Amino acid sequence: MRQLSQRAQAVRPSATLQASQRAKDLQAGGVDVINLGVGQPDFPTPAPIKAATIEAIEQNQVDGYTATPGVLPLRQAVADRLADTQDVHVTANQVVVTTGAKLALYALFQVLIDPGDEVLLPAPYWVSYAEQVKLAGGVPVEVAPTASLKVTPDQLERAVTAKTVAIVLNSPQNPSGVVYTPAELQAIGDWAVQHDLWIVADEIYGELVYDQPTPIPSMLTLGAAVQDHTIVINGVSKTYAMTGWRIGWAVGPADLMATMTRALSHMTGNTAAVSQAAALAALTGDQAPVARMKASFKERLDAVYPLLAALPGFDLPQKPAGAFYLFPDVQAAMTAKHCATTADLVDRILNEAHVAVVAGEAFGLPHHLRISYATDKATLLTAMARLKTFMENE
Ligand SMILES: Cc1ncc(COP(=O)(O)O)c(C=O)c1O
Repeated sequence: MRQLSQRAQAVRPSATLQASQRAKDLQAGGVDVINLGVGQPDFPTPAPIKAATIEAIEQNQVDGYTATPGVLPLRQAVADRLADTQDVHVTANQVVVTTGAKLALYALFQVLIDPGDEVLLPAPYWVSYAEQVKLAGGVPVEVAPTASLKVTPDQLERAVTAKTVAIVLNSPQNPSGVVYTPAELQAIGDWAVQHDLWIVADEIYGELVYDQPTPIPSMLTLGAAVQDHTIVINGVSKTYAMTGWRIGWAVGPADLMATMTRALSHMTGNTAAVSQAAALAALTGDQAPVARMKASFKERLDAVYPLLAALPGFDLPQKPAGAFYLFPDVQAAMTAKHCATTADLVDRILNEAHVAVVAGEAFGLPHHLRISYATDKATLLTAMARLKTFMENE
């Protein structure tokens, strides 16, 4: 009998990609939809990165397979960046380059998890963690957050069991833009070390923080014991507006990275050589485009946050500090609009206000909406006006 694996059938589709698709379908039908569901910068990849990549193509430098964990200059550039900006010293063989940070996480979970092993996911969390843990045969264990949408060692202590192998910590956080302080990270790091757990630190938005110096301190800065237990995930997608190039990486203990490399050698063999050349140009070239994009995100956040926080039924007392998302509590809006689920509210906002947003359920926190501000300011202001009219109408 033809069958599909239970593992694959248990996987939910990506809610963020689904939301974007529904917006695109409506747009294709002629509806003027503003898509605030997307999780990628709206800027083009900076021109010098493209020029360096074209040069690499023309010089025949990117025609063949590369080493599985990536070309040495790129791995060294990742290590150098950590040394320069974080005073963290790792060797190139502690860096594995992957097809996006998404594959770094996927391959890592394949390496860390045996069937039935539990992974702690503080909510809200990025949509792919839970599904990737399940695909590795593991069990995602959601940990409810505090009111500030952060997790504390006390809460983790209640969730840990003999089967727990890892905790995933994402700061700045997608979907909320919440940023942990170094002291909060240290407390969680020390707690994980005490329990001898792996710490998967997803720092992909580490450069996109708006009211404090960047990059914010990495989990790898928190002492030798924490460093020994930590795998940092990062990449060029968000910082350099390079989501389509698909370059991410993992940084961790050399023996773990060697095991991950063996696994990856049977998955992708290597990440596209041309994209590795582009990522190398991004990391080693002029960083001015990053500062410009960051300034633009900040300007949008400053403009949109007060408008969103003032919307009837939308509750967001704390201004987000990083990434490019807002994650208001919309319980009151659901009540006002007689919506039983957040998904119902999302549908009504899409169909009546023509604004696409993502329901909080997929991030482990219902009664919230994820709203991306990776869109130009004028469009954002129009979207806020539409939401205001929607909420004020009966
Ligand atoms: C928190 C987080 N981690 C990882 C990723 C994956 O990024 P990429 O695969 O584009 O490098 C994303 C992308 O949306 C993200 O939001």
